[in-house]
Order: sequence, then structure tokens, then C-alpha cells
Amino acid sequence: MLLTRLIYVSDLNADVSFEAEQMLSSARKLNKSNFVTGALWFTGAQFIQVLEGGRHAVSETYHRIAKDTRHQNIELVSCNTVDERIFQDWSMGFFGDTETNRAQVLKFSVTDSLQPERMTADSLLAALRSLELSE
Ligand SMILES: Cc1cc2nc3c(=O)[nH]c(=O)nc-3n(C[C@H](O)[C@H](O)[C@H](O)COP(=O)(O)O)c2cc1C
Repeated sequence: MLLTRLIYVSDLNADVSFEAEQMLSSARKLNKSNFVTGALWFTGAQFIQVLEGGRHAVSETYHRIAKDTRHQNIELVSCNTVDERIFQDWSMGFFGDTETNRAQVLKFSVTDSLQPERMTADSLLAALRSLELSE
């Protein structure tokens, strides 16, 4: 079982209701039991999520998330074996849709509007590490 980090981006499905708190409470329970850690940023329109843990757990979690109709157009940004976790203290750290967070991520972006699908995995990780936790 190899330690693995996976990053994906997706779009909110505006036709389905999305309640961050509700989703997070069940996701965190599942992640704890699978020893999956990570971070999720919701921009108001898109999700950027990092999942880290054993390869089997990360793979299983990603496939479950990918079937969720609350988001769509899921794009895999990267999936690598890694030496250590970055978000080891969070069963799923959540960064909300704030002005501060948006401005911060633009520091790592080549465009002047947010286009996470055009950012490298390293930039996305660096950006997420620099955000303020919302919940
Ligand atoms: C943006 C987003 C992020 C999610 N993150 C996680 C997560 O980190 N872990 C998890 O188990 N479920 C996560 N979920 C929820 C799963 O998609 C799924 O609803 C949940 O794991 C329960 O699966 P089940 O309905 O097949 O039992 C996320 C859903 C969305 C829309």
C-alpha cells in the first residue's frame, strides 16, 4: 500500500443542491475510517480537491466522488505516490468562497481570472497550502 496524492478539479452542478456542511460531515467520517486526508476548495463555481492516503483508499474515494451528481466535468490533475502527507491533520480541510482566498490563488495563476484547470498540480498545491481554513 503506497502513500498516494490525487488532485482533481470539477465544476459545481448548478441543477443539484450543494450544502458544504452536510457533504463535509459525511466525507470526513468516511475519510477518517479510510485514513484519507486532504483539502477541498470551493470557489463558488468549481471544486479543487486533494486526496491523500493509501493508493487503494484514494482510488476508491476518488471513484466514489467522481460519481457524485453535485459536481460534473471532473478532471484528474495528478495522481502520484508521495513520501509524506501535506494535510495530515485534516480529514478534509475546507476553504470557502472568499475574496481573500480568490486573491491568494491568483498569485499562482497565469490568468487574471480563476481557471484552476489551467494550473499545474504544484501551483494548485502551493495555493491550497496558503489559504485560510473556513470550517
Ligand atoms: C466536491 C465533493 C467532494 C467530496 N469529497 C469527499 C471526500 O473527501 N470523501 C468522501 O468519502 N466523500 C466525498 N464526497 C462525497 C462522495 O461523493 C459520496 O457522496 C460519499 O462518499 C458517500 O458515498 P455513497 O453515497 O456512495 O455512500 C465529496 C463530494 C463532492 C461533491
